[in-house]
Amino acid sequence: MAELGEEIEKAARLLHEAKYVLALVGAGMSVESGIPPFRGPGGLWTKYGEPDMRGYDRFLADPKGWWESIIKREGYASELVEGIERAKPNQGHYALAELEEMGVLKYIITQNVDNLHYAAGSKNVAEIHGNILKLRCISCGHRYERDEINAEVLPPLCPDCGGYIKTDGVMFGEPIPPDVLKCCEDETEKCDCMLLIGTSAQVYPAAAFPSTVRRRGGALIEINPYDTALTNSCEVVLRDPSGESLPLIVERIKALLAGTAT
Ligand code: APR
Repeated sequence: MAELGEEIEKAARLLHEAKYVLALVGAGMSVESGIPPFRGPGGLWTKYGEPDMRGYDRFLADPKGWWESIIKREGYASELVEGIERAKPNQGHYALAELEEMGVLKYIITQNVDNLHYAAGSKNVAEIHGNILKLRCISCGHRYERDEINAEVLPPLCPDCGGYIKTDGVMFGEPIPPDVLKCCEDETEKCDCMLLIGTSAQVYPAAAFPSTVRRRGGALIEINPYDTALTNSCEVVLRDPSGESLPLIVERIKALLAGTAT
């Protein structure tokens, strides 16, 4: 396999020459921040088994009971939430914020709910699976900060429309909120180079975005220690952790922008 340096160089050149770069981010991006992934080594689903695929139906059937179990943080939820509450952005998050600042990266589509891209300073972030710090009305879609809603009376109801409020995190079986899905689709239509960072690319609709880019002749760059279903479609595959490879890519792009790259 090509040396890391050669692959970093190829990735930097592709990103430097591209017109509209997106990053599709998965749980692997936050592993170096201490948050467990879902699949693969150390994954929550590897440890606790895949979650109930009817989680959203359970919420609709008994919103009060669902809230009571959320507050108790049963099962894998406690490990995930505690990991997120302790987490800080890692060098990979800061590298993406710098690429946005440099005008190289246009948007991040993240499957992570940990808020770490915003914490690292990124502004253009589509959280396709929601944000753990927010609540959302399932009727009108209004999002609230957690402290805006009084959860003493369960289930909390939307002050705007009276609909049920749940956590913003998208559950299995729950439709992706239309506003964020449209943002992801519109951005993907413009993309000619997509970074695939720390995602097993198994959950749709996010897993379909790279194929859309590829179908339109765009380039894919994968950053993942392990193979995924998309590996063979990628122009560049970097096997180092994202917190190490992304800062190296940023340095190479800076050299290209300064015209000092050899
Ligand atoms: N750097 C880069 N990639 C990493 C790192 C790292 N340091 N550590 C692990 N990975 C890779 C793993 O090899 C794996 O391919 O990150 C990927 C994480 O995959 P998943 O745990 O499946 O996470 P993700 O792809 O985000 O899952 C999508 O599934 O369960 C749902 O809602 C959940 O948003 C999640 C969705």
